Amino acid sequence: MKSIAQIVQNNRRLLAAYEDKVQPRFLSRYAREPMDAAVYRKLRALDPGPDAPARVLDLGCGTGWLARTLAAESRYRRANIVGYDLSPNAIRIARERAAADGLGARTEFHVADILTPLAGEPGGACEIWVCGALHQMKDAGAALGRVAGLLADGGIAYVQTFVEDPDVNEHVDMAVVAKMGHRVFRGSEVEDLAEANGLKLGGASHAGMVYFCTLTKKSAIGEAGK
Ligand SMILES: C[S@@+](CC[C@H](N)C(=O)[O-])C[C@H]1O[C@@H](n2cnc3c(N)ncnc32)[C@H](O)[C@@H]1O
Repeated sequence: MKSIAQIVQNNRRLLAAYEDKVQPRFLSRYAREPMDAAVYRKLRALDPGPDAPARVLDLGCGTGWLARTLAAESRYRRANIVGYDLSPNAIRIARERAAADGLGARTEFHVADILTPLAGEPGGACEIWVCGALHQMKDAGAALGRVAGLLADGGIAYVQTFVEDPDVNEHVDMAVVAKMGHRVFRGSEVEDLAEANGLKLGGASHAGMVYFCTLTKKSAIGEAGK
């Protein structure tokens, strides 16, 4: 049976509405606080990132709100911001919205499975953003391994996903989240998967089940196995 997320992906009208209406409400429900632009603010608060990033990736970009948010900031004026998503519908909407906002020249969007090598394999990224997407990826460990492979030494990954909140009614909430097609990670699972796949945890915070963290690459010498 298809998840709600898959049904939405296949319907352009629902998908366009998802970014505007569903996603903020859905996140707010599980964060227990308003979540419109808070995802971006909370991730940025964990680490300011480089002053003038050159190469920025948005993995599982959906309809592109995050890439557009970055592109509108002056610190990204020289950055190459590239979003990837499995969904052709999402990528079409992302391109249309970026063009409508006058950000078409500052952003690129491509249909791609980030678990497999990307055309031109754009490694050496200064920043990689994975917002609301890790919990929808078939293999979260492999996805984090891809983040490690695409990130520059000294680069930073910003991740927003779902991690169990012991203070909420898990049975009901997690069933709803699963029905939406999202996985909810357990305890330190994200950190453990990151560690096992070449990354280490920087900062982390959460609002209810909505979890935010930054990850950096373990250096080849000295930190492997730490
Ligand atoms: C809940 S949406 C979030 C989209 C967007 N980042 C946001 O915050 O609104 C998750 C997205 O991840 C994409 N996705 C899942 N697995 C993927 C993969 N292996 N490669 C690329 N995109 C993927 C889905 O197509 C979907 O658009």
